[in-house]
Amino acid sequence: MRMIKFFAIPFLGMVFFSCGGDATTSASTESKTTAEEVIVKEAAPTDPMTNKGIGPISNVELAAIDDAMANEGEAVFAAKCTACHKIGKRYIGPDLTGVITRRTPEWIMNMIMNPEEMVANDPIAKELLMEYSAPMANQSLTEDETRKILEYFRTI
Ligand code: HEC
Repeated sequence: MRMIKFFAIPFLGMVFFSCGGDATTSASTESKTTAEEVIVKEAAPTDPMTNKGIGPISNVELAAIDDAMANEGEAVFAAKCTACHKIGKRYIGPDLTGVITRRTPEWIMNMIMNPEEMVANDPIAKELLMEYSAPMANQSLTEDETRKILEYFRTI
C-alpha cells in the first residue's frame, strides 16, 4: 500500500504535466481555425477575463485613470449602489473591491446597465445570483454614469 502511494504521487505529477503540454498543442491548433471560430472561443462566457457579458456595451478602451471621472463615478456609486454594496466587505451584493481584476470592463458595465438579462443568461452572473439570492438592481444609469463608475472601480 505504501509503495503504491509513493509511486502514485510522481505519476500524478506526470499526468498534470502532460495536460499542460496538451493545452499548448491545442492552442496552436486553434490559430489554424477560422477567425470566426477563434472569436467564439475568445468569448467563452465562463472565463471571467474574456466574457464581455450581455448588453449594450461591446467594447471599452481603458486609458490612464481619469481622476475627475473616477470622483464623479464614486458620487454616483454612493447615491445608487451603496444600499447593497459596501466597499471592503460583502453585503447584500458582493464586495466590489478589485472587481476590475476579476471581470472585463464590458461585463461590469453590462451588469450595471442590463442586470435582468445578465442574471438570467450570463453564466457568471447566474452563479452570483445563486450565491447572493438577491437580484442585482437596475438603477437605470446612463452609459456615461456607468462608465464613470467603472473608472471609480479602477481606483478601488
Ligand atoms: C438591490 C441591491 C443592489 C443594488 C441597488 C445594486 N446591486 Fe450590484 N449586485 C447586487 C447583487 C445581489 C449582486 C450579485 C448578483 C445577483 O445576485 O444578482 C450584484 C452584483 C454586482 C456586480 C458584479 C460583482 C462581481 O463580483 O462580479 C457589480 C459590478 C455590481 N453589482 C455593481 C453595482 C453598481 C455599480 C450598482 C449601482 C448602480 C449596483 N450594483 C446596485 C445587488 C445590488
